[in-house]
Amino acid sequence: MHTLKKRTTVLLMGIGLGLTMACKDGENTVKENSEEISTQATVSQEIEAAIDLPGHMVEGEKVYTQHCLLCHQSNGAGVPGLNPPLKGTEYVVGDKDRLLEIVLYGSNVGLLVNGSVYSNAMPAFKMLGDEDIANVTSYIRNSFGNAADPITADEVVAIRSKIKE
Ligand code: HEC
Repeated sequence: MHTLKKRTTVLLMGIGLGLTMACKDGENTVKENSEEISTQATVSQEIEAAIDLPGHMVEGEKVYTQHCLLCHQSNGAGVPGLNPPLKGTEYVVGDKDRLLEIVLYGSNVGLLVNGSVYSNAMPAFKMLGDEDIANVTSYIRNSFGNAADPITADEVVAIRSKIKE
């Protein structure tokens, strides 16, 4: 018991000494560090502005709730035999063009999703705006345990003109 106390005191003194020494050549290091941190912050703000995943997620969830939830469910699990899941499927996290085509123009071909075929038809959503489509597809690519890069409105425009609505 006694020895333990002594050891702890010695250890604490050691830490105290280390800290004092670290502070001595302190000012410069602190300055450099804070400069580095602020540069990092600017870079990540720029990346965020370009991708804006949080914005996609908030807006995308609204579109999902209004237009997709009924069939694909709030947890993206779908309904067995009727509507496929959006959780971990290659259509959701894979090729962006294929995903956009399904969401914009619907699908009734009996897609094989994770080993099963579903009997309902997926309606077309081309009447939704480019931002809404970008937001909802980005939302499903980053919900239900999915993690894939988001989709921009420009990518939606590109698919629309490729298909020539
Ligand atoms: C009326 C029910 C219904 C609604 C509403 C609906 N879907 Fe679907 N969805 C389906 C069905 C059924 C399929 C399978 C179609 C097929 O077999 O060709 C499907 C397939 C999909 C697929 C590809 C397969 C997969 O599971 O990965 C994606 C992605 C998808 N839907 C996303 C959406 C999104 C996003 C919305 C909302 C904008 C939406 N769906 C609204 C029924 C629906």
